[in-house]
Amino acid sequence: MPRIAYVNGRYLPRDQGAVSIEDRGYQFADGIYEVIWVRGGRIIDLEGHMERLERSLDELSIKRPFARSVFAVILAQCLRRNRLADGYLYIQVSRGVAPRNHVYPDHGRASVVVTASRARPYDPKVMEKGVRVITIPDIRWQRCDIKAIALLPNVMGKQRAKEAGAFEAWQINALGEVTEGSVSNAWIITHEGEIITHPANNSILSGITRRAVLALVREQGLKLAERPFTLEEALVADEAFLTGTTNFIVPIVKIDKTPVGNGKPGPVTLDLHQAYLTYMDKQNEGC
Ligand code: PDD
Repeated sequence: MPRIAYVNGRYLPRDQGAVSIEDRGYQFADGIYEVIWVRGGRIIDLEGHMERLERSLDELSIKRPFARSVFAVILAQCLRRNRLADGYLYIQVSRGVAPRNHVYPDHGRASVVVTASRARPYDPKVMEKGVRVITIPDIRWQRCDIKAIALLPNVMGKQRAKEAGAFEAWQINALGEVTEGSVSNAWIITHEGEIITHPANNSILSGITRRAVLALVREQGLKLAERPFTLEEALVADEAFLTGTTNFIVPIVKIDKTPVGNGKPGPVTLDLHQAYLTYMDKQNEGC
């Protein structure tokens, strides 16, 4: 696969792409990003990702660098130039280059980078066996709704999960509630069959996969609550799963040392996973 990146107006071999050491993304993590899945050469949920990207920029008063249609052309070019069939596009927009000063520069121009990476859609073994999550305190800020490139707590969380031999780290707030994973949204299904996920407020990132799964849950007429759930509730749930662009839907079979339900991926989770695959494939029809 060729490795071509879009960097501030140019398509370059990825290892030659560079931004200034005075870029505010580098200096202050003053920027935002998106990760968008590509399946069968088609971009999944482009509109949702573009909407969230623009919202993140607006919340930080970073001037939108282009119209959505221009972004769409750049993404399509990156797909084509990298001959990407299955994988993901990464977009990063920072406030741009300026002498180091905390206040926003008056006349900045955003830096834009897009890369395309091949990746496996999902691991069937993971779906068969499920994964374990550990729990960690949620030490993040109060604007987790912005998809900011400042990800240190998430990076530390995911590293802790890896060191514990787990797939993900669920973050627990001061009230004992599960907000979300370090790179994914968190869900449980109670014994009464209610599907619960944290509401999309400033404590979590409003996942694009989460939105799609909510729609599938509603379509199937399943019981649904967008409310915070506690770790205690999670430990007695029948099923648990996580959602995210690069993992789709992953069944969770253990939280710390406690098996979830019967310790196997739950039937509702597996059904939703199938429904999500179909949902993605439907987007490809008629394109
Ligand atoms: N992460 N919550 C957090 C903190 C995330 O970082 C992500 C995604 C999600 C799921 O959002 P979505 O369904 O839109 O991917 C939830 C991306 C994939 C990443 O940082 O690589």
